[in-house]
Amino acid sequence: MGEIREMPGPILCVVGARPNFMKMAPILRAFSARHDLPEPVLVHTGQHYDAAMNDQLFAGLGLPKPDLNLEVGSASHAAQTAEIMKRFEPALDRYKPACVLVVGDVNSTLACSLVAVKKDVPVIHVEAGLRSFDRSMPEEINRLLTDQIAGLLYTTERSAHTNLAREGIPAERIHFVGNVMIDSLLAHRPRAVPPADTLRKAGAPAEAIAGGGRFGVVTLHRPSNVDEPEALAHALGTLAEVSRRAPLIFPIHPRTRANMEKFGLGEMVAGARIVLIPPQGYLEMLGLMANATLVVTDSGGVQEETTALAVPCITMRETTERPITVEQGTNTVVGRDRQLALAAADEILLNGGKRGRVPELWDGRAAVRIAEHLAGWLTARHARVKV
Ligand code: UD1
Repeated sequence: MGEIREMPGPILCVVGARPNFMKMAPILRAFSARHDLPEPVLVHTGQHYDAAMNDQLFAGLGLPKPDLNLEVGSASHAAQTAEIMKRFEPALDRYKPACVLVVGDVNSTLACSLVAVKKDVPVIHVEAGLRSFDRSMPEEINRLLTDQIAGLLYTTERSAHTNLAREGIPAERIHFVGNVMIDSLLAHRPRAVPPADTLRKAGAPAEAIAGGGRFGVVTLHRPSNVDEPEALAHALGTLAEVSRRAPLIFPIHPRTRANMEKFGLGEMVAGARIVLIPPQGYLEMLGLMANATLVVTDSGGVQEETTALAVPCITMRETTERPITVEQGTNTVVGRDRQLALAAADEILLNGGKRGRVPELWDGRAAVRIAEHLAGWLTARHARVKV
């Protein structure tokens, strides 16, 4: 297997969409700190491109400018995935990398993994093995397929090992390293932006969170919640009810904003104590979540971040691929059940909600562990290939 060459090429590190950026930042830092690893090269597919979804996160996380931007932009799943593949292939030919490292479960993750594996370049998947068991989620398909073709799988929680074993992935490919997203959170927490500053900058009334200072933070963008008029109306109705108990700050994803306007649902928010602000940078979002009394979300990463911050989280999805956030953390999964959501909100506001504990190895050193392990793995592989 593999082409014989004296010096291994670089590590191509792929990002595409917002949730990739906070995972890649600590990895790049850890790789750059070692002399026994090939240099990292950052490739951005351009799946997310708006300043709000992209530039301000890069800045807040201290991510370097990508070495290469494939500028694919938005399209249907098939068109977007295909376009990423077409544009990533010449990058592989040009860089001849030692391996391709992908994170998470977005379309860019799968697209670049597929191109790499077919060119006999090993794929390293960070955040492997998470499963919602809901194949209507595009991310679940991306996870399942990426894990099948990855040569090395780094996991964030032990449930992932059970999932991967069930799918026939050999145990020697799988390594429990902890959570790189929490590396970013711990590194940046001291610089989190106070919520009042964030509101002011967004032109929102700071009184929204005055008076006791209790407020909730909302993120909502899953197709299952926002792409159909009925589903979105139902979700917004639940949020309106929660906002009667505590005001809500809602940095709204472009997909959600566009659909709210298209379906004529703006009034549902306007009539409630819900403050809509644009998508926020990393330090702003961290400040909002860290100071919130509760968080309502359908994001994957936010479930983990709230667990690490010990802030109660209500997840408006039927399933979670991150069960540790429920078992050990602060997460409560309520699906589309409005009564469950309101009961959880009441419990949080009356009694403080779940306190939880920080899961094993969510200690800020996951990327360092990956760098350490990968250095040994690449050396061993290079020696094997040369024989
Ligand atoms: C993607 C990921 C999802 C992740 C989310 C975080 C997939 C399958 N989904 O979903 O897992 O949780 O990112 O945001 O990869 N848009 C903009 N500006 C941008 C990017 C997108 O306005 O910079 C709008 C476009 O109208 C686009 C829509 O958002 O069509 C959806 O973007 P897309 O990247 O396809 O999916 P997300 O919903 O963002």
